[in-house]
Amino acid sequence: MRGVRRACSLRSGQSAGDSVVKFKRRSLVAAGGAAAIVGLSAIRLADRRCPRGKIVLRFSHVVDPDTPKGKAAELFKASLTEATGGDVDVQVFPNSTLYKDKEELEALQLGSVEIIAPSLGKLGPLGLRDFEIFDLPFLFDDYTALHRVTRGPVGLDLLERLTPRGLVGLAFWDNGFKQVSANRPLVLPADFHGLRMRIQDSEVLESQMKALGAIPDEMALSEVLSALAAGVVDGTENPPSNFLTQRMYTVQKFMTKSDHGYLGYAVITNERFWRELPGDIRAAAVAALKKASALADAIAQSENDSALDRIANMGTTTVIALSDDAKRRWKEALTVTYSEFRHRMGSRLLDLVGAATGTSLLG
Ligand code: SIN
Repeated sequence: MRGVRRACSLRSGQSAGDSVVKFKRRSLVAAGGAAAIVGLSAIRLADRRCPRGKIVLRFSHVVDPDTPKGKAAELFKASLTEATGGDVDVQVFPNSTLYKDKEELEALQLGSVEIIAPSLGKLGPLGLRDFEIFDLPFLFDDYTALHRVTRGPVGLDLLERLTPRGLVGLAFWDNGFKQVSANRPLVLPADFHGLRMRIQDSEVLESQMKALGAIPDEMALSEVLSALAAGVVDGTENPPSNFLTQRMYTVQKFMTKSDHGYLGYAVITNERFWRELPGDIRAAAVAALKKASALADAIAQSENDSALDRIANMGTTTVIALSDDAKRRWKEALTVTYSEFRHRMGSRLLDLVGAATGTSLLG
């Protein structure tokens, strides 16, 4: 596994202990509470005794640049490039151009990429099933409820669980609330019956689709458009920003504004890469990340609202509002998903999140 990549690398045998700076364990909460940024415990910094060359930082993600995550990644790049006078060569690879969903997690662990920002539930298959709690339907009424979790002790604790996997959780970035789509109107749970619905790789989403009567089909985001077009899957769920920029409106006749689930991200890096960064560069990266986190969180709602308007005006996808009564029927059908999660994961996390959000649906 590679650590920091740059023009001048460590000679073999050169030790990270020549000059050691110890950092106290700390948590940094970005200004305005925009992002929880996890500190590192007793990090040993190497004095590389090496004339500085460019440090390469590859940031891979799977969505379009014109989304909350895409824009935040670009701001991170611009801020870090400027702050380091170009000493860090930040390369952003959007739209799965470098790695798809599962591949990017493996690539990060192997050191083939330095930063990724997967959606939270996608960390489940790494054995970090607690992150799938964010996939539970109707868990968050709004961003305020969500931020009580992501910006509080529960969020911090979740990010710290990445450490044993050789990863460092740097921040949460918002996207938005998911809507369902298909080529027939999805209003009541019965409407899902027999539909093959694309999901992200998450046991909670699998349970959710089964509870609604659909057949879940897990696949990478980069494959969804062609799978919908070919009829391999009948429908999907995503916030409007992804639905729009992945051009799903070209192949889905109906979208229901269900707001039934949340989609957001954990920005994560490789622990060895992070540990080996020179202290001033790491500080600049933290500052750039703070700005990017603030941007992602500030624009998430407006980007999704305007994407929804654009979808509705496109003329290819009819947007249906979900009535309170229909929503109640969805919630009834979905209580089984809460019970399954509690059974599988235990009650502790659910109770903590329930206390933070005030959600009454916690099974
Ligand atoms: C993402 O927003 O990063 C991916 C969402 C998806 O896979 O549906």
